[in-house]
Amino acid sequence: MKIAVIGTGYVGLVSGVCWAELGNDVTCVDKLQSKIDQLNSGEVPIYEPGLEQMMNANRAAGRLRFTSNLAEAVQTAELIVIAVGTPSLPSGEANLAFIRQAAEEIGQGLAGYAIVVTKSTVPVGTNERVAAWIGAHTSQPFDVASVPEFLREGSAVRDTLHPDRIIIGTDSDRAAAALEALHRPLTSQIVRTDIRSAEMIKYASNAFLATKISFINEIANLCEKVGANVEEVASGMGLDQRIGGYFLRAGIGYGGSCFPKDTQALIQIAGDVAYDFKLLKSVVEVNQLQRRSVLDKLAASLGDLNGKTVGLWGLAFKPGTDDVRESPAADIMAALLEAGALLKVYDPIAMANFKRMFYSDAGANEDIIWCEEQWEAVTGSDALCLLTEWDTFVQADLQRIESLLRGSVFIDGRNAFRLEQVAATGLRYFSVGRPVQRDSHSETMA
Ligand code: UGA
Repeated sequence: MKIAVIGTGYVGLVSGVCWAELGNDVTCVDKLQSKIDQLNSGEVPIYEPGLEQMMNANRAAGRLRFTSNLAEAVQTAELIVIAVGTPSLPSGEANLAFIRQAAEEIGQGLAGYAIVVTKSTVPVGTNERVAAWIGAHTSQPFDVASVPEFLREGSAVRDTLHPDRIIIGTDSDRAAAALEALHRPLTSQIVRTDIRSAEMIKYASNAFLATKISFINEIANLCEKVGANVEEVASGMGLDQRIGGYFLRAGIGYGGSCFPKDTQALIQIAGDVAYDFKLLKSVVEVNQLQRRSVLDKLAASLGDLNGKTVGLWGLAFKPGTDDVRESPAADIMAALLEAGALLKVYDPIAMANFKRMFYSDAGANEDIIWCEEQWEAVTGSDALCLLTEWDTFVQADLQRIESLLRGSVFIDGRNAFRLEQVAATGLRYFSVGRPVQRDSHSETMA
């Protein structure tokens, strides 16, 4: 199939590369010429395992190209995919300016029948507006469809090539048949819905996963108080097939470019139709509070944080990505600085992005030391906090942490270590929803 993908962010680039991998002829379009130049030189602008290699193999095979010329790409395409950003407005509502612009330009470029698919996460009803925006600029026939994306950063290629399901929301049988044929090599779980339901499935899925995380984080907080172990609780719960074991890892809360944005957008969508989505509002509030738990544990173990040195391991919102959007580390760092702590921070991949996004003006902030390697963040610190469970941290030698720290407090915000491992050390180890380990004895946090 001849496909034009508009937008070379995570979703657009990964989808385009994977469709080329399946043998389709794909042109990826982006307005930013510098990005197109970078892609044409064989470089992927994001950190995503396996993507660059697959992209270059498909470029070499002549199935994948990059251009800033939208009109040309659209003219010959049978399928046009909108995968541009929908950033949040201050109200939490999704900003559809890029979608509208793409739709209008598609309308101007259409030279014959095409299917226009929206992959960007958009509020319910947007695809009908997309159809109107396109229709205002063309007399060519076209169909619209919503095919939401469910890939995760860090495992985007695998998720795209092995999806749990494909949702095709369209009123057109012709478009549905073509989209089913395109996706059939990936899965037999293809579900046809109306457009509005497909749009809602995306928000509902992300909101439900966020709810699972906030739920288990509250159970974890309760476990700390009653002396239970959230890991055992989660695995016991997860064996019930109606609950499922995924997304029950307690920690310092969810971040990233999707859950925070999409939960806020769904609250806003509900508000627009005078529906008060109480549960989801609590999910968001719990998530915000969970970030504070690191500070509470530090304060409980170190006392006044003013003048204390705290090492931070991990700035990305999760391992496997250099994305720092809505990363819990940003709030935790800001609160620690506010409390007067001196920070020694390290992340194996996301350091440059983090600095650029949160500390570009305050590059000279004397209270932050940006470490060259992970052990520098530990050396001489009063406490170490693990905020992102990168392998290099999870596999770290606990004895070495103990010997390099000035103090002995280790806050593990991701339950990255087994309690038995830590029990063999003298570390005062505080994790999330599990018994506290100190000097080989365990006790519950009061
Ligand atoms: C999420 C969804 O998982 C994807 O299905 C969806 O396509 C994507 O959003 C999107 O809408 O584009 P992503 O943001 O890449 O994907 O990351 P996840 O792996 O879902 O993790 C999100 C956050 O939840 C991370 O901060 C992670 O640390 C946290 N998390 C995840 C937990 O705290 N506990 C868990 O058990 C799972």
